[in-house]
Amino acid sequence: MGLLPPMLVFCLLAGASSMDNGLLRTPPMGWVPWEHFRCNTDCQKDPDDCISERLIKAMADRLAEDGWKELGYNYVNLDDCWAAKERDSLGRLQANASRFPSGIKALADYVHSKGLKFGIYSDLGNLTCEGYPGTTLDDIETDARTFAEWGVDMLKLDGCFSNSSAKAAGYPKMSAALNKTGRPIVYSCSWPAYEGGLPPEVNYTLLGQICNLWRNFADIEDSWESLSRVIEWYGDHQDTLQPAAGPGRWNDPDMLLAGNSGLSFEQAKAQLALWAILAAPLFMSCNLGTISAEARDLLRNPLLIYIDQDPLGIPGRRIAKSGQFEVWKRALNGHQYGVAVLNRGTGGAPTPFVTSLDLLGILDCEKGYKIYDVLDRSFVGGYGLNATLSFTVAPTGVVLLFLRPLC
Ligand SMILES: *[C@@H]1O[C@H](CO)[C@@H](O)[C@H](O)[C@H]1NC(C)=O
Ligand SMILES: *[C@@H]1O[C@H](CO)[C@@H](O)[C@H](O)[C@H]1NC(C)=O
Ligand SMILES: *[C@@H]1O[C@H](CO)[C@@H](O)[C@H](O)[C@H]1NC(C)=O
Ligand SMILES: *[C@@H]1O[C@H](CO)[C@@H](O)[C@H](O)[C@H]1NC(C)=O
Ligand SMILES: *[C@@H]1O[C@H](CO)[C@@H](O)[C@H](O)[C@H]1NC(C)=O
Ligand SMILES: *[C@@H]1O[C@H](CO)[C@@H](O)[C@H](O)[C@H]1NC(C)=O
Repeated sequence: MGLLPPMLVFCLLAGASSMDNGLLRTPPMGWVPWEHFRCNTDCQKDPDDCISERLIKAMADRLAEDGWKELGYNYVNLDDCWAAKERDSLGRLQANASRFPSGIKALADYVHSKGLKFGIYSDLGNLTCEGYPGTTLDDIETDARTFAEWGVDMLKLDGCFSNSSAKAAGYPKMSAALNKTGRPIVYSCSWPAYEGGLPPEVNYTLLGQICNLWRNFADIEDSWESLSRVIEWYGDHQDTLQPAAGPGRWNDPDMLLAGNSGLSFEQAKAQLALWAILAAPLFMSCNLGTISAEARDLLRNPLLIYIDQDPLGIPGRRIAKSGQFEVWKRALNGHQYGVAVLNRGTGGAPTPFVTSLDLLGILDCEKGYKIYDVLDRSFVGGYGLNATLSFTVAPTGVVLLFLRPLC
C-alpha cells in the first residue's frame, strides 16, 4: 500500500464503495402475486383472489405452515395494485383502505410474526404500470422512509411512466435513500429491463453497486414460448450477464410459472432446472392454497434448491448447443457441478443424449464423479471421466444432473 501513488489509493477506496447492505448472499426465494393474481382488485367478485391483505396473509400462512419456509421460501411480496389512488395529506403512499383495512405496517408485522420477510412494489415514475401513484424523483426520500417505517424488507422498483434520464437519476437515488433509512432493505431494480438489458445502455458494474437484483428482460408470461425466449436471451448474452451476478447482486429472469396453467410438467421442470443453473431468484407466483402435489414437489426439490442456493453464487453458462439440445453447466462449491441438458425439440419421443464428463469439461477429480438425476430424485451411478453417460430428454424438457466428486 505504501508504494502506491496517492491517486491510485483514492481510486481503490472509491472502488470499494459497492452496494453493501449485506443482503442476499444467495438468490432470494419466496412468493409474489403477479403471474397468477395480476391486478385483480375486484374483492366483491373474487374475495379470495383479489390483491388484498386477506390474500397476502393467506399466502404467508401457507409459506409458514406448509413447509415452504424451511426450504428457504421466506419472502412474501406485494406487486402492483396495492396502493390507494391518492397519496395521503402528508404526501405519503397509502394502501387501498378497503382491500388493506389494517394497513401495510400491520400486514408486515403479521408476515414477520410468521418468521417471513415482507416485500413491496413501487414504480420510479409518474404512475405504476397499472396506473397507481408512482415514486417520482421528488418522492424517493419520503417513500424510502415510509417503507422502512412499515417494516418492509424488500422493494421492487418498476419503471413504467418514466424515461431514461429519470431512471439514471432515480435508481441510484433510491439506493442511497434506502441505505439512509438504516433498515436493511433488499432493492430490486427493473431499470435494465427498460433499457434493453445490455451495454452500453446498461452498466452492470453500477447495478451491482446499487441494487441486489434486477430484471433484465421482458416480463415472463405463462407459456413455453415466453419461457424459451427468456432462456435463449440469457444464453445469447451470457458473456455480459453471467459475470454481472454474484453474492448480493443477481440477475432476475422473473417468476416461476410452476403451479399455473400454461406449461406442461416437463416445461415447468425445465424452468426450475435452468433457474437453478442461472442462480436465479425463486419466486413462486401461484395459489399456494390449491397448488397440485406435482407442482409442489417440483418447487420443493431439495437438491435443486441446493444448486440454486450454492454459496459461491457463480451463475452457470450455456456451454454447448447441438441440434435440438443445449447443455448448461454451473460450478458449485467443493468441485461439485450442476448440468442441465435442455431439449428444445417440440415433437417426438424423449430423445437420447450421450456425453461424458470429459466432454462436459468436468475434469477436476480424476477418479470421477457420483451423478444424481435431480428431478428424478435418483442416483445414476459413479462415472469415470471418459465413461459414456447417456440418457433421454423429453421434448421441451430437461435433465438436471448433480455431480459430486469422488476425490
Ligand atoms: C449503508 O451503506 C454502508 C456503506 O456501504 C453500509 O456499511 C451499511 O451497511 C448500509 N446500511 C444499510 C442499512 O443498508
Ligand atoms: C380501493 O380498491 C377498490 C377496488 O377493490 C376501488 O373500488 C376503490 O376505489 C379503491 N379505493 C381507493 C381509495 O383507491
Ligand atoms: C411526469 O409528469 C410530469 C408532470 O406532469 C411531466 O412533466 C413529465 O413529462 C412526466 N414524465 C413522464 C415520463 O411521463
Ligand atoms: C424525463 O422525466 C423527467 C421526470 O418526469 C422529466 O422531468 C424530463 O423532462 C423527462 N425527460 C424527457 C427527455 O422527456
Ligand atoms: C459503469 O459504472 C461504474 C461504477 O459506477 C463506473 O466506474 C464506470 O465508469 C461505468 N462504465 C461506463 C461505461 O459508463
Ligand atoms: C478420454 O479419451 C480420449 C480419447 O481416448 C483421450 O484423448 C482423453 O485424454 C481421455 N480423457 C481423460 C480425462 O481420460
